[in-house]
Amino acid sequence: MVDMQIADVQDDISSVLLTKEEIEGKIKEAAALIDRDYADKNVLLLAVLKGAVNTLVALSSQLHINAQIDFMSLSSYGSGTESSGEVTIRQDMAFDVRGRHVLIVEDIVDSGLTLSWLMDLLRRRGAASVEAFALLNKPDRNKIHVDVKYPGFDIHDEFVVGFGLDYNELYRNLDSIAALKPSVYQGDHA
Ligand code: IMP
Repeated sequence: MVDMQIADVQDDISSVLLTKEEIEGKIKEAAALIDRDYADKNVLLLAVLKGAVNTLVALSSQLHINAQIDFMSLSSYGSGTESSGEVTIRQDMAFDVRGRHVLIVEDIVDSGLTLSWLMDLLRRRGAASVEAFALLNKPDRNKIHVDVKYPGFDIHDEFVVGFGLDYNELYRNLDSIAALKPSVYQGDHA
């Protein structure tokens, strides 16, 4: 299978952070832990649209346990690349989470505000447990501590795209994760 690769968007990319193989390797490690931890529980995987879709597909296809899947669309960004801190639900999930073991699948923890808000919401709604897998984390940008049980990669403070992550709704279908040239987003990343 030929994916959209770095060569296809070379002019917009300053560096490749994680190759497809590195991403898949990390997801496989997390899947083994999740298989073990949820062996006797009926897990509900909840992906935050749209960025976590690629991660959800990669993670769920590595799991041996029989998982249910749901989606939620949240908005925490006004515009550009800076979190507004205010989270609103664009589209709610379909399942009732009362009594459920929910594992949130996130693409990236930046300020941490979105994930922290979502974990609180699910607990308030009566989930039996709420944990998270986050493929990426930017520790230098975290404004709040979020307990991510299944962490992926820590990355530096730069705006990244690919493997579901976008800039202006583009680059999501890139098969790896790369830093964008600042000239592409013209300085709206603080
Ligand atoms: P937080 O609430 O600041 O942690 O923001 C989390 C959300 O911001 C993620 O789910 C992404 O949608 C978006 N985001 C944060 N950093 C990046 C990035 O480097 N590239 C693309 N999207 C990002």
